[in-house]
Amino acid sequence: MESSEQHALQDKEHHAIVAPHYDELVNVPRKRINDCLFREIKNHITYSGKGRMLDLGAGTGQMSVRFGGNFSEVFLVDHSKEMLVQAKKNISVIENVNFKLVEADALAFIEETGELFDFVACSGFLHHLDEADLTKAMRHICRVLKDKGHVVIAEPVKTERIEPALIRWWNKPVIPRLMQYLALAPAPEETPLNLSSFLEIASRAGLNLKYQRKSWEIYSRFDNGWQDRLIIPLIDRIWNDGVVWMGVFEKA
Ligand SMILES: C[S@@+](CC[C@H](N)C(=O)[O-])C[C@H]1O[C@@H](n2cnc3c(N)ncnc32)[C@H](O)[C@@H]1O
Repeated sequence: MESSEQHALQDKEHHAIVAPHYDELVNVPRKRINDCLFREIKNHITYSGKGRMLDLGAGTGQMSVRFGGNFSEVFLVDHSKEMLVQAKKNISVIENVNFKLVEADALAFIEETGELFDFVACSGFLHHLDEADLTKAMRHICRVLKDKGHVVIAEPVKTERIEPALIRWWNKPVIPRLMQYLALAPAPEETPLNLSSFLEIASRAGLNLKYQRKSWEIYSRFDNGWQDRLIIPLIDRIWNDGVVWMGVFEKA
């Protein structure tokens, strides 16, 4: 079996087990920092009104919930049936949008689809791909994007930097919860993206970078209450050259 097939199989097995716990153990602790980061991202996207969105590696639908309401049709593509079951619940609160849940390999989907999209979101999916597949993925993302369409990408990236001591201290009480997630099921090996080569691949694919920023993982400590809402953006303003990268591209 090809190693990328093996990786995908392990990833599917992993998500089959973690899916019912994913939001509670992964997305809820990141809610405040993600609210803060995606609020900035939204300022760099223009919506045409009745467009179509593609959420690649949609998982439990975080990106579709954040952005989907701006579109008339949203495709959520994920190879994990169990993650899509959770996504279906999460998107049910959004009205007047035609959501399509697609259980498929994301790369195969963008290679084969004849649909065009105004907006493509990719969060936590691209770093699963090796360089050849990443190159293919970015070329096809550009192909399925309408002119002036936007792509939002959020991925872990390699860094030489060490997590600031204050962030380490802030995150400490939340670490057992994250460990609980890791203990649920073995995950396939993952490496963060090499940002400079990724940006080169995106540019060669025909995507213009409009906005980018980095951040650290800063977890919610107070059930996403006012303390988290106040303090997390403040920490992020001071220390932001971290391990998470987000960018907005426009089709050249
Ligand atoms: C880290 S989760 C992120 C989920 C979601 N985008 C979010 O931001 O919360 C990665 C997701 O990508 C999916 N995935 C990984 N490799 C995939 C592939 N080759 N095709 C389709 N989905 C894939 C996994 O099943 C998982 O749901």
